[in-house]
Amino acid sequence: MQRAVIHPHPIPPGSISQTMAAGQNPVPHPHTVATEVRNLCKIYNAGTSRAHEALKDFNLAIRANEFFTLLGPSGCGKTTLLRILGGFEPLTSGICRIFGDDVSVLPPEARPVNTVFQQYALFPHMTVRSNIAFGLEMLGKPRAEIERTVEKMLDLVHMTEYADRKPDTMSGGQRQRVALARALAPQPKLLLLDEPLSALDLKLRQKMRLELKSLQRETGITFVFVTHDQEEALAMSDRVAVISNGCLQQVGTPEDIYEQPQSRFVADFIGESNLIDARVARFSGCEAILDIAGFDQVHADVAQDLAHGQPVSLSIRPERLVLSAGEGEGRGLATVFDRTYLGNAVEYHLRAGDHALTARSPRGGLRGRQDFAPGDTVHIAFEPGSIKVLLS
Ligand SMILES: Nc1ncnc2c1ncn2[C@@H]1O[C@H](COP(=O)(O)OP(=O)(O)OP(=O)(O)O)[C@@H](O)[C@H]1O
Ligand SMILES: [Mg+2]
Repeated sequence: MQRAVIHPHPIPPGSISQTMAAGQNPVPHPHTVATEVRNLCKIYNAGTSRAHEALKDFNLAIRANEFFTLLGPSGCGKTTLLRILGGFEPLTSGICRIFGDDVSVLPPEARPVNTVFQQYALFPHMTVRSNIAFGLEMLGKPRAEIERTVEKMLDLVHMTEYADRKPDTMSGGQRQRVALARALAPQPKLLLLDEPLSALDLKLRQKMRLELKSLQRETGITFVFVTHDQEEALAMSDRVAVISNGCLQQVGTPEDIYEQPQSRFVADFIGESNLIDARVARFSGCEAILDIAGFDQVHADVAQDLAHGQPVSLSIRPERLVLSAGEGEGRGLATVFDRTYLGNAVEYHLRAGDHALTARSPRGGLRGRQDFAPGDTVHIAFEPGSIKVLLS
C-alpha cells in the first residue's frame, strides 16, 4: 500500500521548525528572494573511492511567492538540492540562504521550512484533525488558535468532512491532501515538495496539480516543487529550473523553457523536439543562414555569435513542421514511415535522407492541413520563427 504522509520522522522536524514563522508571515515583496544557493557543491562520500559529485557549482535564486519547480531526469540532483534547502543534508561547499539568512549549517528545526516527501507517514492512530494539529501543538500554540487553524486547513484542502477519519480509511489523494494541510498549518515561509504526486494515478495527479497550484496562490507560501515530469512542471510552475547531472541547465518561465531552449539537453528533455545537425552558411548580426544536408537553406534568428562553417544543432518542435503534398512548397522531401492517431492530433514519423523527423498536426485538417499515410512522399516546411539554433 502506498503511504502518503508528511515526514519520515516520528516527530516531523519540519513541523517543529515553524517556531519563527508560525502565524506571523508578513506578505513578502514579490521580488524578495525566498531562498538561494551560491556556488553550491555537494559531494557524497567525499574523500572515499565512492565519492560522487551530486551538485556542481550550483547557483539559483527562488523568489518569494513563487511556485518554483526543480525538473530533471532521475539522479540529476533534485532531491539532494531539496534536502540541502531543508537542512536534512549538509552541503560540501557554497552557501544556502533563506529569506536573506545564511542557513548553511542550521538544522531543519531552525529553518522556517516544511517538507512534503513522496513517501511519508501520517500518524495512523490519529484522526485527520489530530494529524493536522500535531505540528501546532508541538509549537505550543493556544488551543483556540490550533482549532481555528485546523478548520481553515481542512477547508483549504476540502477535507472537512473527513476530519474525524483515520488515514488508513482514505484514498491516496485524500491522504496527500491531509499531508499538505499538515505541512501548511504552521505557515512555513517555504514549502518543499519532493514528487508529492508521483504515487497517484494520472487522473488524480492532474486534479491535485490544479489543487496544489491554487493552494500556493491562496496561501502565498513559496513552493519549491520537485518532479521529473515535464508536463507537470510546465502546467504548475511560475518558473522552472532544468537540471542535468548536477548542473543547472536553464531557469525560466514554462514558456521560456519550451519556446527558447538554450541547449540540446533542454530542447530534448522538455516536450519533443526535432534536433537536426546543420552548418552556418552565413551569419550577419542576429540572423544566420544554415545548410542542412538534403534540405534548402533555412534562415533563423540567433542571439549568439556564429562563425562561417560552424556546426550547430537546430531544434524544431513537431507541431511547427508543415507537411504538404504540393510541389515547390517544401524545404525538403521526406517519406512518411508511420502515422499515429493521438485523438486531438496526428503524429507523422518521417525520414528525410539521414534525418528522422516527427511532425504533429491538429486532427481533422485544421488549418487546412492534409492527412498522409505511411509510404507517402511529402514536402516539409518549417513555420517562420520555428528554428532555434543551439551550439552543438
Ligand atoms: N546518500 C547518498 N549517498 C551517495 N550518493 C547519493 C546519495 N543520495 C543520492 N546520491 C546520488 O546523488 C545523485 C543525485 O541523487 P538525487 O536523489 O538528488 O537525484 P534525483 O534527481 O532526486 O533523482 P530521482 O528523480 O530518481 O528522485 C544520484 O547519482 C544518487 O545516486
Ligand atoms: Mg529524488
